[in-house]
Amino acid sequence: MRKSALLERESSQAQSTEAVAALREKHVLPLPGPMYSKPLQIVRGRGQFLYDEKGKKYLDGFAGVATVSIGHSHPHWLKKIKEQMDEYFHTTALYLHPSLGLLAQRLVTMLKMANPQLEMCFFTNSGSEANELAALIAKNYTGSHEFVALQHSYHGRTLMAMALTGQSNWRHSTPYGQSVSFAKSNYTYRGYGYKECLDDLAQTVRTSTSGRIAAFFAEPINGVGGVVTPEPEYFPGAYELVKKAGGLFISDEVQTGVYRTGHEFLGIQKWGVKPDIVTMAKGLGNGYPVGCVVTTREIAEAMKGKLHYNTFGGSPVQMAAVGAVLDVLEKEELAKNAHEVGAHLIGKLKKIGDKNPFVGEVRGAGLMIGVELVKDKKSQEPASDIAVKLLDLTKERGLLIGKGGLSGNILRIKPPLCITRKDADFAADAIEDSLGKV
Ligand SMILES: Cc1ncc(COP(=O)(O)O)c(C=O)c1O
Repeated sequence: MRKSALLERESSQAQSTEAVAALREKHVLPLPGPMYSKPLQIVRGRGQFLYDEKGKKYLDGFAGVATVSIGHSHPHWLKKIKEQMDEYFHTTALYLHPSLGLLAQRLVTMLKMANPQLEMCFFTNSGSEANELAALIAKNYTGSHEFVALQHSYHGRTLMAMALTGQSNWRHSTPYGQSVSFAKSNYTYRGYGYKECLDDLAQTVRTSTSGRIAAFFAEPINGVGGVVTPEPEYFPGAYELVKKAGGLFISDEVQTGVYRTGHEFLGIQKWGVKPDIVTMAKGLGNGYPVGCVVTTREIAEAMKGKLHYNTFGGSPVQMAAVGAVLDVLEKEELAKNAHEVGAHLIGKLKKIGDKNPFVGEVRGAGLMIGVELVKDKKSQEPASDIAVKLLDLTKERGLLIGKGGLSGNILRIKPPLCITRKDADFAADAIEDSLGKV
């Protein structure tokens, strides 16, 4: 067979889901493997919808793991990226380009409500890198290398980010070479109230560290860990304890940032705590790779005289993508939408959960929603098998959602922030109907 004909045949074969899955299995590490009992192939996305190779339409209830904020292939976002690409794609942040300072200024303005002293930004390609850098800054500033993180947390996949992650299924049997102690997460459904958890945090600092820490790392509402939503008293209490131990409060906003939890730009604003460092990624780029660390001038100055660099972080194309996300969030009032549609969806899911024996708890804020599935309400035994079935059933109904938690029994619903009430009703119906079939 002629070479070009062979290539043609291979590429036409590669269109079928079976061929795409087989090729991936042959050459790509299964980390993670494809979701669903029959793998799903997505070939197009617009707004809050995705389409498979056969043209079937899905409501995207997972948004590329809470990443697509303003909607798939938003025209304004594409236009701004293309405009910059026509000028040039890449040089280095060692040269000046107006977009970097302007975008940093814009972001810092948006963070004023969270902490007016947050004024220095550093851009990376991912959330993991942002957390890695945040930890490095905290070490340089405090002179300590000891960290406290929370059980059930997820902070990414670089060495430090893995060391900070408090879930066995995401940990490997390897020495991470970092000093991280874990405190209990304020997980009321599993019996951990805020008083007990604050006590545990104080004890963790006293018994597992030197008493002086570099930082406390936390997600305001955890993502991968199953949308564990703390009581309002937890983070203010934790902040006091962290300050007593000389540490910085680092808010990992990789999932909760960019209005995912509703009205506020950052999730931590819900809990009234002023973080010393915040890290963002995911929704900031709407799918364009980006991460960002923001801190105070005083803390940032601890990095003075030390070299640190990121080849792609802060590039004009990245800045164009993030700038366009901020434009659309504002123009389309997506914070308000996330708040209102999120409250509507949570309300509907709670009603469904009250009647269904497999729903232990519905929780979250804005469009960051978790549904904890159990074998029965009394035993509260995690029902990961039901979660697996439910994902398949909702997919059949045209809804894509995720799952997470230590036992894989928590449905994660995190659609683009542009979904409508009608979409939320569709998602709730699909989940109710699927629950009836498991
Ligand atoms: C809270 C949190 N932090 C950090 C990360 C890591 O981000 P990335 O995958 O962009 O490295 C994630 C990713 O899911 C996350 O959910």
